[in-house]
Order: sequence, then structure tokens, then C-alpha cells
Amino acid sequence: MSDIKVAWNRRVREMEAKMTVFVCCLFVWAFLQVSHQNPTNHWTLLPHILVVEVDGTEGQQPLSCLELPDELMRRDIKNGDIFWKKNGWEEEQRGNIYLLQLEESLGGGNYTCHSKDGSLLNYTVVLIQEVEANRRILTKSDKEGYLKCSAQNYNGEFHCSWTWHSSRVGKVAFINVQRVSDTQCSVDESGQHWTCSSGQSNFSCSVDDSGHRIVCLEEQHCPYAEESQQIHITVYLRTEHFLLEIYSKRFYLSEIVKPDKVSIGKVNTTMIEWSYPTSWSSPYSYFPLIFEIAQLRRRCKKCDNPCPDSKATKTWTVPSTNICQFEVKHKVKAVCVRAKDALCNSKWSEWSYIRLVPPRRVRLEHLFPL
Ligand SMILES: *[C@@H]1O[C@H](CO)[C@@H](O)[C@H](O)[C@H]1NC(C)=O
Ligand SMILES: *[C@@H]1O[C@H](CO)[C@@H](O)[C@H](O)[C@H]1NC(C)=O
Ligand SMILES: *[C@@H]1O[C@H](CO)[C@@H](O)[C@H](O)[C@H]1NC(C)=O
Ligand SMILES: *[C@@H]1O[C@H](CO)[C@@H](O)[C@H](O)[C@H]1NC(C)=O
Repeated sequence: MSDIKVAWNRRVREMEAKMTVFVCCLFVWAFLQVSHQNPTNHWTLLPHILVVEVDGTEGQQPLSCLELPDELMRRDIKNGDIFWKKNGWEEEQRGNIYLLQLEESLGGGNYTCHSKDGSLLNYTVVLIQEVEANRRILTKSDKEGYLKCSAQNYNGEFHCSWTWHSSRVGKVAFINVQRVSDTQCSVDESGQHWTCSSGQSNFSCSVDDSGHRIVCLEEQHCPYAEESQQIHITVYLRTEHFLLEIYSKRFYLSEIVKPDKVSIGKVNTTMIEWSYPTSWSSPYSYFPLIFEIAQLRRRCKKCDNPCPDSKATKTWTVPSTNICQFEVKHKVKAVCVRAKDALCNSKWSEWSYIRLVPPRRVRLEHLFPL
């Protein structure tokens, strides 16, 4: 009898040992699962804005409500009383640490944490940045020409714009402009004015009302000196689904300069004159423009812009004077003029246009469409 008991007890002990090993393995497996899922590279874009990189696999990212546990004690808050909301909707998880589940590009949002009575304790905006499996950040760079940058002159001001499909809603989340690395950027309280400073150059940028365009000024920019380094601008856009998209471009001002339209006037029936755009850099002897002149012999009835690129009949260089005159040929009905930096191969201005003969009488229904 006792032999059987001993044998039985030994068996039970063996079973227990095996169970322990099994449970241990289960824990290790679960831990490996979690740590395998716990991938995320993350970085802080601005206070309260956390960027989490995802590569399509599942992952987790802990968020803390109050960073210092002492703070809970000091404010007499019980861990279990803290609850979380995502974009205003209450979540199930409780406690000071919230474990954010990431799946594909989901998981972004505004995570607020609240005390028992519902008052706001803190918040973290989580933005999702998609990276390739090899961790290369998906940046749409110069090649795609997503950012279009242009300057009216050499004074140090330029603007960059981008187009988004009308169905997309996005906001500027961060801007970085620099000629040298180690530039620090910050935003003011309105969230519209950015400053990027380094020892060598300072930029200030503002987002305009459309939300699709920024205007930047390089302070202490010297228009007369040759630029030794390119400007590197990076715009971080946040979509309505809390995805982060990054666009960047590098350029010299001389590459993106595009004069404003010239204004043309009529001196008499055969003579036109125009002047340098008032926004162009002076002195004009130092910043000469060349002009292209197109004389149109035929009227284009339906064109919005009758100035053709191809039919220019004369290119004229006017180096240093403010007023330029040109005698038009006989029978010319209209003249177009545009300007370009004479020393750099940058962009032409938009065409300006003047009619030399009054338009023929138009039928009434053209003036007052039904
Ligand atoms: C609030 O959350 C942010 C992260 O979004 C964190 O940096 C900050 O320390 C938190 N504030 C407190 C008081 O813990
Ligand atoms: C996130 O929520 C906080 C608290 O309600 C609010 O102050 C903040 O503006 C929100 N941010 C965004 C991007 O929704
Ligand atoms: C840029 O601005 C900072 C702070 O406003 C200033 O200390 C620094 O001297 C400026 N740098 C240049 C190159 O002007
Ligand atoms: C038009 O003005 C120019 C310059 O003032 C002058 O030389 C020319 O003779 C004038 N032509 C006519 C037809 O009046």
C-alpha cells in the first residue's frame, strides 16, 4: 500500500515539475511574443507629440499619463482610477500606463488620460510614421517635386507650396529649414509661426491661411553674397488619420528665383514701355533681368492667356535701367513681355500682356452671358 502511495506521490511531483516547466515556457513564449511585437522606434516631434514608426507588423507602444510615479502620490491619484480616451472616446484600459496596440498604420490619435472625476491629467498625440521593413523612412523627396518653392527676389524670402487632393485633410505638424545641420526649430503658441536657428543662419516661417503654403524669411540674408550652402526645407504634415508625411527639398535661392510680372504701359501707338517688377532686388545693375518680348499679329479670341511661349520674336537684355521701351512692328495687335534673371538660369516670370488696338466690338451676349 505504502509503496503505491510513494510511487503516486513521486508521479504527482513529476507532473508538477513538468507543469512548472510548461508554465515557465508559456511565460517565456508570451514574453517573446510581446517583445517581438514591441518594436517601435519612436521619437518626440514636439512636447506632447509622439511619432511612432511602424513597418506594417503588429506592435505595442506604452504611453504614460504622468511620467513620474511620485506625481500620482503627490496628487493622491490611484493608479486604477486613471482612465483613457482616444479622440474623445473612452477606452477600456486603465492605469497610468496605456499599452497602445499598433496594427498596420492604425493606432494614431489623441490619447488623453483622466482622473476619476473625468478631469484631464495629460495627453499625447500619437502620429504614425510608415517605414519600410529595413527602417528607411518613406520620404517623398525632391524627385517627386511635391514641394514647389519659389522666390520673388534675392532678399531672403521664399515660399513653398504643395497640393493635396481636396478630399484630404492635413495640417503642418513641424517645419525644419536650415542651411547647416544642428538647427533647432520651434513653433509659437499659435502653431503657425516657426523659427529655426543655428549659429550661422536663422529662418522664420509661417503657414498661410490656405494651410498649403509656407512663407519663409532668412534673417540676416545677404543678397550680394554668393550662397555657399543650399537651403534644406522639410515639411512634416499630419493627416486627419494621424499619419505623418514628410516632404523635403534642397535648393539655392538662385535656383528658385522667379521675378514677378512686369507691368507694361503704352507710350503711343507704336511704343510700349515697362519697368522692373517692384519686388525685384536692387540695384538693378547688380541684379539685371533679361526680357522676352512676343508681338502678336493675330487676336486670340478665346484664350485666357494669349502669350505663347513659342512665338517670341525678340529677346532683349536690359541690364541696368528701370524703364524699358520697345518699338513694336506695324500691324501688331498685342505685345507680351516676361522677365528672367540675366545671370542665372532660373525661371521666367509669368507673361504680362498689353493690347495695342482696342478690341473689336463684342456681341452683347459675350458681355452679358445668359
Ligand atoms: C505628459 O505627457 C507628455 C508626453 O506626451 C510627457 O512628456 C509629460 O512629462 C507628461 N506630463 C507629466 C506631468 O507627466
Ligand atoms: C489633444 O487633446 C488635448 C486635450 O484635450 C488638446 O489640448 C489638444 O489640442 C489635442 N490635440 C490634437 C492635435 O487634437
Ligand atoms: C539667430 O537667433 C538667435 C536667437 O534669436 C541668436 O542668438 C543668433 O545670434 C542668431 N543667429 C544669427 C546668425 O543671426
Ligand atoms: C512714340 O514715342 C516715341 C518715344 O517717345 C517717339 O520716338 C515716337 O516718334 C512716337 N511715335 C509716334 C507715332 O508718335
